[in-house]
Amino acid sequence: MKNIYDISEVNRCMLCLNGPCEKACPKGIKISKIIRSLYFENAVGGIKELKNNDCSTCSAPCEKACVLSKKNRHVEIKNIFTDLKKQSQDYKPQTNKNNKIDLSSEICGIPLENPFLLSSSVVSSTYDMCSRAFEEGWAGASLKTICNFPQHEASPRFSAIHNHANSFCGFKNIEQLSNLSVSENMEIIRNLTKNYPNKIIISSIMGRNEAEWTMLASESENSGASVIECNFSCPNMENESLGVTIGQSEELIERFTRAVRKGTKLPILAKLTPNVTDMIPFALAAKKGGANGIAAINTINSITGVNLNSYSAEPVIHGQTIVGGYSGHAVKPIALRFISDLSKCEELKDMHISGMGGIESWVDALEFILLGSSSLQITTSVMQYGYRIIEDLLDGIKNYLLSSDKSSIKDLIGLSSRTVVNHNTIERETITYPVFNLDKCNGCGRCYISCMDGGHQAINFDNEKRIPKLIGSKCVGCHLCRIVCPARAIDKAHKTIRNINS
Ligand SMILES: Cc1cc2nc3c(=O)[nH]c(=O)nc-3n(C[C@H](O)[C@H](O)[C@H](O)COP(=O)(O)O)c2cc1C
Repeated sequence: MKNIYDISEVNRCMLCLNGPCEKACPKGIKISKIIRSLYFENAVGGIKELKNNDCSTCSAPCEKACVLSKKNRHVEIKNIFTDLKKQSQDYKPQTNKNNKIDLSSEICGIPLENPFLLSSSVVSSTYDMCSRAFEEGWAGASLKTICNFPQHEASPRFSAIHNHANSFCGFKNIEQLSNLSVSENMEIIRNLTKNYPNKIIISSIMGRNEAEWTMLASESENSGASVIECNFSCPNMENESLGVTIGQSEELIERFTRAVRKGTKLPILAKLTPNVTDMIPFALAAKKGGANGIAAINTINSITGVNLNSYSAEPVIHGQTIVGGYSGHAVKPIALRFISDLSKCEELKDMHISGMGGIESWVDALEFILLGSSSLQITTSVMQYGYRIIEDLLDGIKNYLLSSDKSSIKDLIGLSSRTVVNHNTIERETITYPVFNLDKCNGCGRCYISCMDGGHQAINFDNEKRIPKLIGSKCVGCHLCRIVCPARAIDKAHKTIRNINS
């Protein structure tokens, strides 16, 4: 099903708290919920929620109530919903296997009601926060990393790379670990396991020496945690011998995992850093030390920008900054690459993979699952949009399964692994041409500009009619034109031909 509503208009929505648009709707349509579904790539969810409502003749009080109407142009809610209604005619509800969809998964053999966990960070710092997330549908949480030494945090501690007006795609933090004491954190674990027996509590820990790693693991088990996660990867530690420094040494990973194993019989996840060229030796070291799985990725060393007035890099703290951890949607490709490497490694086949790094929508989540993750963890998109994203994560996957030949998440784990092959294996003999869909083309000429200056000068552009035309003899099939086309008017040809250069 092709989306016909204007996604750039959807992206203008502020995703408000208790959207005033919704309150103003005389028909009681859940407007903000529907727009959120469209924002998070869950058009089917939006269509289902719109039900049989037709907004085309409404005077649209929702638009007058839109917070943007005060200072700016309101979101064109009526147009979006009218287009969505039209799109719903293409939607055929498919009932797969009598609607029996199974969203459950597992973590190191322990059942998970769904694959989604809060990853260790500020989003899982307190009992109250985890409790609210669990009530909204999260299957569990890896608590903010617990340690036995005080934290001194800098302020401000975040900066971001924005993609369009209302959201950021990349996020830098320079935060360290939990500022609560070990006993306060153990109390949180005890209360969460008592009040939420079906949720999975992962105790994320970091010690300064073997004795501390053992003690933290043992206390976590005694308090009722289900899994221990060793933080071998925080890039922001004030004490430079901790965090990522451990994660960049096979010897230290093995030694400290062994120390953790000494303190617990629970499953152990080693949370590894992407700040290495190849994660496999570090994962193998963790396995040797007694780990049952890998959690990846932690954040990537980064500088997000420089303040052009003060000449200081961001976030500016008294004229200075430090290199800090980058996360959010922008890091997804890097995370997926590490997940793929881990799941393809024969010696790690029996290890659980808990994937994270840039998951925002159900599509991102499925990509991690298809490349081999059985559980998923999320921080940055919760920081940006709130625990409520769980709604579309679950609903999006459910709608996907309903329209596929699979009925369970477990059927999808690792299915795409075999599609990632070596550089010397990929087929390089044929060209797949781009095909221009002139009904959709708006004549902007962006394909021409990119092909001229960044491609192979394989497009002619009729300036009168504003129509692009492919020059087949020059086209190498790189598909830059398709990727840059703002109107999504260029497709892949179904047929490919043998490369004339080969
Ligand atoms: C503000 C912030 C604090 C974090 N604190 C921790 C932490 O205490 N322990 C840890 O293992 N990872 C920590 N992380 C890393 C996240 O758990 C996660 O690995 C990373 O952000 C990638 O996932 P994401 O793109 O969904 O955020 C933190 C990340 C952020 C953004």
